Amino acid sequence: MTNLSRRRAMTLGAALGLVGLTNVPQAWSWSSSGSIAATDTVTDPFQVWDPAADDVATRLLADGSVPAVNTAWESWVNNADALPSGMPAYLTSYLTQVNKLPSWADPALLAASETLYVRLSSYLFVSESLGSGILSTVIPREARAVYWSAGGADMKARAAKTFTFGYDLHNGNAWKNNGHFVVTANKTRLVHAAVRNLLPTSAHFSATADQPKPISNGDILRTFHSVATVAHNNMKKWGIPLSAAEQAADLHAWQVALSLLGVQEQFIPASWSAAQTQASQMLWPVVAPTTEGIDLAKTLLGYVEDPVAGLDTGFVSEFTRYLIGDQYADWLHLPHDLVSRALIQTAWPLYVAFREGLSPIVPDGFYLFDQTLRGIAMLFLNNGTSPTQTPITLPTANRPG
Ligand code: HEM
Repeated sequence: MTNLSRRRAMTLGAALGLVGLTNVPQAWSWSSSGSIAATDTVTDPFQVWDPAADDVATRLLADGSVPAVNTAWESWVNNADALPSGMPAYLTSYLTQVNKLPSWADPALLAASETLYVRLSSYLFVSESLGSGILSTVIPREARAVYWSAGGADMKARAAKTFTFGYDLHNGNAWKNNGHFVVTANKTRLVHAAVRNLLPTSAHFSATADQPKPISNGDILRTFHSVATVAHNNMKKWGIPLSAAEQAADLHAWQVALSLLGVQEQFIPASWSAAQTQASQMLWPVVAPTTEGIDLAKTLLGYVEDPVAGLDTGFVSEFTRYLIGDQYADWLHLPHDLVSRALIQTAWPLYVAFREGLSPIVPDGFYLFDQTLRGIAMLFLNNGTSPTQTPITLPTANRPG
């Protein structure tokens, strides 16, 4: 988009009340010199989508083969699995090209990420579910896309599917032949491509859309920051010891993940400091409440408080407040509970220090935090109804209604 048409779009957006004046995005200026491509160009990632995957999804939706593909995908789980039969030839041909690691993937760093993620799994569960999961509801484009897509009508299944991605990435076998992540990422990439085809046909979604189709490379990077950069910051904030090699392994796993999701190398940050600069341009200036996001947050938090998890509303709300901060939590109308707040502020750092062997003191809230972790794990397992992960399937329609 030229600067002139960008300005027009922003003015129109502001006139329609689509963007708050404080949230008007600045012209994109992040240089790809900070990317793994290491070129020095400035290309707006919000104007880049994923043509190869999008074309395949267009054909799958047009020729009605999505149900057959979803059936074929059931047996396609492990990284080393052969591509399943029963798929159209053009899909097999596309997957043959993309269902592999990029040439620059470093096996030693990926192996190191597997070890690291097993060590950090409890903290990542907390950071990425109650933290990033709820943060996603104050990212307007993401909240609206999720709400108005088919999965928005069944957030329990949707949350479980999204957890599948996190579980497969943060797994001791993630990148091994019997791991799942490469397959899961490829399925996710095609789900996004299907959504890019479907959502523009939703009148509800289009009423507030500010781009020709959703889930651009920029939007995917924004979500990456709300998950991975936020987790990186949380680990530091919580005093979890991480060596330089471990931090490099964490970033590398995400670099490969982004590439598998169809993000171009010119946008993938080469260092955590380049990632922080990118996040400060693309994520934090745009967060805002939306009707859809408020509804999604309420639904999602309801699952964690579910009788299976057995957690009290005040505790869950305050833990979320602790993770995302009061301003966003206020936008989402999360209740206050001063007793839980005091407990979390004092006991969570002690809990982390105790678990890390940095302190012999067992904190008061130990049981509550352990229960929280179990509750979130149950949510990932679809409240215990699924013994394994929830399969990722291609949608054929938007949210009904
Ligand atoms: C679907 C992960 C970015 C919107 C999915 C799924 C996963 C996933 C695992 C499949 C599960 C499901 O079908 O529900 C991710 C990751 C991202 C990312 C790891 C970035 C790092 C985004 C962004 C948007 C978005 C930026 C929108 C702006 C959606 C929608 C669906 C979906 C609408 C389909 C829901 C449905 O089934 O109806 N994503 N996503 N995602 N994602 Fe993403």
